[in-house]
Amino acid sequence: MHRVNILAGQVNTGAQVAPQTTGETITITDNRNGKQAVIPIQDNNIKAPDLKKLGLQSFDPGYMNTTCCVSRISFIDGGKGILRYRGIPIEVLATQSDFTETAFLLLRGELPTKPQLDEWKRDLMSHSMVHSDVATIISAFRYDAHPMGMFISAFAALGTLHPEQNPALTSQNIYDDFAVRNKQICRILGNATTIAAMVYRHRMGRPFNIPNSDLSYVENFLYMMDVYHEGTAFRPHPKLVKALDVLFLLHAEHELNCSTSAMRHLSSSGVDVYTSVAAAAGALYGPRHGGANEAVLRMLEKITNVDEFIDKVKNKKEKLMGFGHRVYKNYDPRAKIVRKIADEVFSVCGREPLIEIAMELEQKALNDEYFVKRKLYPNVDFYSGLIYKAMGFPTDMFPILFAIPRLVGWLAHWSEFLDDPDNKIYRPFQIYKGKVLEDYVPLDQRVSNNVDPKVLHVKRSAFNRRRDAALQQVKKGNDYEWNTDA
Ligand code: CMC
Repeated sequence: MHRVNILAGQVNTGAQVAPQTTGETITITDNRNGKQAVIPIQDNNIKAPDLKKLGLQSFDPGYMNTTCCVSRISFIDGGKGILRYRGIPIEVLATQSDFTETAFLLLRGELPTKPQLDEWKRDLMSHSMVHSDVATIISAFRYDAHPMGMFISAFAALGTLHPEQNPALTSQNIYDDFAVRNKQICRILGNATTIAAMVYRHRMGRPFNIPNSDLSYVENFLYMMDVYHEGTAFRPHPKLVKALDVLFLLHAEHELNCSTSAMRHLSSSGVDVYTSVAAAAGALYGPRHGGANEAVLRMLEKITNVDEFIDKVKNKKEKLMGFGHRVYKNYDPRAKIVRKIADEVFSVCGREPLIEIAMELEQKALNDEYFVKRKLYPNVDFYSGLIYKAMGFPTDMFPILFAIPRLVGWLAHWSEFLDDPDNKIYRPFQIYKGKVLEDYVPLDQRVSNNVDPKVLHVKRSAFNRRRDAALQQVKKGNDYEWNTDA
């Protein structure tokens, strides 16, 4: 059966993953009191609220086995190493589509027709110019501020520059209007590369460039970073444009990873989409997630002996960054494609010498029992950083190169969330194991408590060594003397 779901103005053929009632049930017996509950099973899930029948909740730190929504955007089979966007295998998209078309697919649920694609490209590129206040905000950062800090702040600031879309200031239903919703999608995606290029130029101490909306999305990004005096005649190298475009496509969406969950979490409060995007970008920045590409590079740079490093990983003294995944227990299909792009980029920019260490690490890890037993394989971040490095990006720009394309996934989930009839505010429970009821003892009656002094220690800034020395002096007349009692 071919089910058609109308979502957010998106016509979506969701036959493969649409929820189905199977009529299957599970009977749970509470052995404490013999109470039984018959609970329906849908799509191999039970609904956690059904556990209320037994007065139970489910405890799942890190969401190791928790489903929080129905989605039709991407499909992953981690055991088999399969990733599909709207049903289309990632390998097919990487070879036959491009980032802009794939973004339409992810956001709208279908591949665009030619007129739709042309309009989508125009809409994106016509939103590439940012509000001039963003330039002021980025310029206010120190030259060595981490690019992600600037990127996150710029997006939070963008929301303030467009108050007409803010549900807190207008109407809580403002995004139900598709024209308003689409405006934010185009502005966020269109502004993203401009903000990223500004962040990059700020760090280089170079003036910002104006976007060239005649170019493709990725071409314009490289243009804004690299053009000097050549003006609009400047064209980035097509092989590098293609490589970055495929990398963007591979990073565009990955279902409910940490940052996309953060996007849904924030959106559930009804906050404006720019604040949600800033928060999602914050989650992405972490080294366990999108910051891993930066962490891989820093790791490779410090490895002098691969065997010794692997031993340290096995002894839990180090982590092999770029390896392992919550969902993939097989080779990440994106990592395979990334590895191939590396050679293309090296043919233009020269071979990145760290690739030898990466390949040796990969080969040794894949044959080592520690990694085999835990099903730890290279993930998308293992080789992407080497490509970015070969292309001349500073290491701390790498997470931004992940964040730009992932905006597409975040916005697709945002849109899906807005249309979800179950879109309740995210509000999990806790198991409270703290003190039940305590007296408030007035300060003058408190003699001691159980606080471990080590948890109260605040790291002191280095300049305090001089200040402490200075403050140990005592004034005697017009002179200072060392306070020998101190
Ligand atoms: N190096 C060494 N050991 C690892 C690694 C690793 N990279 N990843 C997992 N393990 C071990 C972990 O110590 C644990 O061992 P044990 O059973 O002895 O306690 C076991 O494998 C299971 O790991 P886990 O931490 O329970 O797995 P998780 O699903 O909670 O974490 C992960 C997934 C991606 C956070 C983790 O594998 C990791 O930190 N990897 C390195 C960071 C990285 O490359 N992140 C990018 C992920 S891909 C991009 C994205 O989508 O975010």
